[in-house]
Amino acid sequence: MIRSFDDAARSAPRVSCFGARGAARVVSIAALAGAIVIVTAAIAGCADSLAVPDPDLNRMLVQPRADPFAASAAFADGKVLQTPPAGTVPYRPPNEVEGPPRPTRALLELGRARYDVACAVCHGVRGDGDTIVASHMELVKPRDLHIERLRRAPVETFFDVATRGFGLMPPLTEVLTEKERWAVAYYVKALQRSQRGAP
Ligand code: HEC
Repeated sequence: MIRSFDDAARSAPRVSCFGARGAARVVSIAALAGAIVIVTAAIAGCADSLAVPDPDLNRMLVQPRADPFAASAAFADGKVLQTPPAGTVPYRPPNEVEGPPRPTRALLELGRARYDVACAVCHGVRGDGDTIVASHMELVKPRDLHIERLRRAPVETFFDVATRGFGLMPPLTEVLTEKERWAVAYYVKALQRSQRGAP
C-alpha cells in the first residue's frame, strides 16, 4: 500500500513504460473492453517524469525566479517590479473604513469590548502585561502597554500593531475588523491615561 510520497517514489520505478506496440495493444484491448481507465493508466505509466516524482521536491526549491527589486530582461524597463497601470486603485474589502474613525464614546466602548476579548488575554485588562498567559510565555512577554515609549506612541501605532502584528505577536485581522482595530487602538490610549491618573 502506498502511504506516503516516499513510498510512491520507491514503488514508481516498477511502473513499466509501454513501447509503442505495447501501448497499441493496450489501447486495442481497452477499446474492446471499453475500459478507458486502462488507457489512462498506460499514458500515466509512460510519462516518466510523472511516474517517478522527485522525493525531495528539489525541483520546486531550485528553479528560475524573479526577485522583487531585482533586474529583469523580461520587461522593457529592465525591472521585475512593474508600475501598476494608470488608474489602478488599491483593493479594500467593501466593509473597511477610510483612515481613523472619529473617537466617539461608542467607538471607545466597542474598543473596550474588543480589547477585553482580543488583547487582554495576553496584555491584561489593565494593559500591564501581568497575565497567566504571559507567565507561561518563555521567549518574549506581552509588552506592558504603559511603558514610556508606548505612552508617547500615537493611536496609529496600536492600530498598526493589531493589523500587522509585532515581533512574536500575531496580527489580529482574523478576529478584529478594521473599525474594531481602530476602536481598540483608541481604547488603549484611553487605558494608558486612566492608569496614569492623568488626562
Ligand atoms: C497571544 C498574545 C497576545 C495578544 C492576544 C496580543 N498581544 Fe500584543 N504583544 C504580545 C507579545 C508577546 C508582544 C511582544 C512581541 C515581541 O516583542 O516580539 C506584544 C507586543 C505588543 C505591543 C508592543 C509594540 C512595541 O512597539 O513594542 C503592542 C502595542 C501590543 N502588543 C498591542 C496589542 C493589542 C492592541 C492587542 C489586541 C488587539 C494585542 N497586543 C494582542 C502578545 C499578544
